[in-house]
Amino acid sequence: MRGRFITFEGIEGVGKSTQIARAAAWLRARGCEPVVTREPGGTPLAEQLRRIVLDPQDGPLAPSTELLLIFAARADHVATVIRPALRRGRWVLCDRFTDATLAYQGGGSGMNEAWIRQLARIAHPRLEPDLTLLLDAEPALALARLAGRGGRADRFESEDAAFFGRVRQRYLALAAAEPGRVRVIDAAQGEGQVADAIAAVIDAALAVSG
Ligand SMILES: Nc1ncnc2c1ncn2[C@@H]1O[C@H](COP(=O)(O)OP(=O)(O)OP(=O)(O)O)[C@@H](O)[C@H]1O
Ligand SMILES: [Mg+2]
Repeated sequence: MRGRFITFEGIEGVGKSTQIARAAAWLRARGCEPVVTREPGGTPLAEQLRRIVLDPQDGPLAPSTELLLIFAARADHVATVIRPALRRGRWVLCDRFTDATLAYQGGGSGMNEAWIRQLARIAHPRLEPDLTLLLDAEPALALARLAGRGGRADRFESEDAAFFGRVRQRYLALAAAEPGRVRVIDAAQGEGQVADAIAAVIDAALAVSG
């Protein structure tokens, strides 16, 4: 049987990496060994493209350049990691996917949404996540968590709260448009509560325990 494709979305600092690790552990405890991966990235080529997108050495990328690099990375990731894993029956947990492009490049940066959806058809024809966990919280909370995490702020992290506000609203609009696939999780809760909420949604949607 084909595996399940689960994506984690939300603005920076909301807890995606934290929760994907917890969801992977929860699945492992139930005898399911998931493939855990991230975007942009997940393959050697895509990780190189990630470095360019997050930290362009020669000045800011034009929005169209950034968009095409993200989808080039995604096409490689889908073809060489995600689809083969799903065909082998593995569950794939992915930190961001095309919803992030719709939210950031579409909602945040104002790129044409129809073009983004066309590129998605090229990069991953007939493949959409079975389930998307949208971790939702106020940008101010997420930015405070990022400050707590420390480390160098990459280019996106130095964008202002208004940008993250637009990204958040687009994410919520995506959830409203596809409520069956995209589930909104209140990410302002404590880490354990968020993990429990995610486990309950995965179990209800994909019947892990049954
Ligand atoms: N529910 C929570 N309550 C408080 N702090 C949290 C919670 N979840 C995560 N954190 C902390 O907030 C910081 C950001 O979390 P994390 O790195 O998981 O976010 P992220 O969504 O993956 O961010 P990015 O988009 O930058 O990768 C970390 O220091 C993490 O330990
Ligand atoms: Mg992360």
